[in-house]
Amino acid sequence: MNQVILTGTGLFTPAESISNEELVESFNNYVEKFNSENAAAIEAGEMEALAPSSVAFIEKASGIKSRYVMDKKGVLDTDIMCPRIPERGNDEPSLLAEMGVNAAKQALEEAQLDANDIDAVLVACANLQRAYPAISIEIQDLLGIDGFAFDMNVACSSATFGIQTGYDMIRSGSAKRVMMLNTEVCSGHLNFRDRDSHFIFGDVATAVILEDAELAKNKQGFEIVDTRLVTKFSNNIRNNFGFLNRTAPENRDDDDKLFIQEGRKVFREVSPMVAQLITDHLADNNLQASGLRRMWLHQANRNMNDFIAKKVLGYDPTEDDQPTVLDEYANTSSAGSIIAFHKHKDDFKAGEMGVICSFGAGYSAGSVIVRRAG
Ligand code: COA
Repeated sequence: MNQVILTGTGLFTPAESISNEELVESFNNYVEKFNSENAAAIEAGEMEALAPSSVAFIEKASGIKSRYVMDKKGVLDTDIMCPRIPERGNDEPSLLAEMGVNAAKQALEEAQLDANDIDAVLVACANLQRAYPAISIEIQDLLGIDGFAFDMNVACSSATFGIQTGYDMIRSGSAKRVMMLNTEVCSGHLNFRDRDSHFIFGDVATAVILEDAELAKNKQGFEIVDTRLVTKFSNNIRNNFGFLNRTAPENRDDDDKLFIQEGRKVFREVSPMVAQLITDHLADNNLQASGLRRMWLHQANRNMNDFIAKKVLGYDPTEDDQPTVLDEYANTSSAGSIIAFHKHKDDFKAGEMGVICSFGAGYSAGSVIVRRAG
């Protein structure tokens, strides 16, 4: 089996950001307007009044303080409450491909590679903007890469599933150098009129380069020590959007065609599942949690990550043990753990180890143990 090394990462961050204060003000204006327009029905008990959102709740319950978005104006406009992203012609790059290319170029630079050194492109994300052709094939074309490309969707866990897929391809020899991207316009599938979830997501794109270690030019990369994936069916995070929606037009615009979740149940069920996955994964590689320099966890909820890291490490984690990026980026679905890795990997010394871990809908979770080379 070929050894595999991760030699580059890239991050595309949208230009616009929305603070909790701005988001809550817009949401509460919507609530006030809704309640006043429906005052008679609410008074008569025929309709429930909507409750306002609060910055204090959002920060305490999730740790999120802001999120980047591709269109701030549409999201904050109480008559729209959705990003407005004009449709592009088929001869123009799609939005996801454009975001992905931006992240890819950074990752290639760190890996000291040209695009034509890559022979496989994977887009692994939760929110693909169209059915086909694959966004990854479009990115392959925009960058001028030979070989093959495909898209895969394992929701928020997609990054670790993508890394394992690339790792397996390089180990077996079906590819030498793989580019794995996580392109997310989560604002497009978020219901900004839903108090329980309107604050959760942000937009971003990340990229990772995996190589056959013998070919790597960047000798300071991270060896992939081992990967492990797990899935267990649950309806607690769900999005029923799909091409069959048009066959039932009476339900086409229902709330379940956007992101919905039972957040409390997700928190209770997924946190122990993830802690167990990492603990077992380390043990099966004869590694101790005390040997980990850092964990780059999926960025959904600060309290959830503190719980998982404490369970694995056996003590209250510091920011250095388990860095947070969701305060600034919110939940960026598949990209979260890779943003954390991208921003918090350069201080690693040769031989130090860490775990990249993503988790989410499915349920699904993945653990990637890495060791700094060089
Ligand atoms: N502003 C103010 N109050 C709010 C609110 C808002 N925006 N949204 C909900 N509340 C209220 C609820 O109505 C509830 O009130 P009650 O106690 O009077 O009934 C209370 O706050 C607690 O709601 P709950 O939904 O139980 O909050 P929580 O502490 O579980 O936090 C999440 C909600 C979503 C932040 C949290 O459950 C979470 O992040 N879970 C994990 C989700 C996850 O990882 N998903 C993966 C997606 S990829």
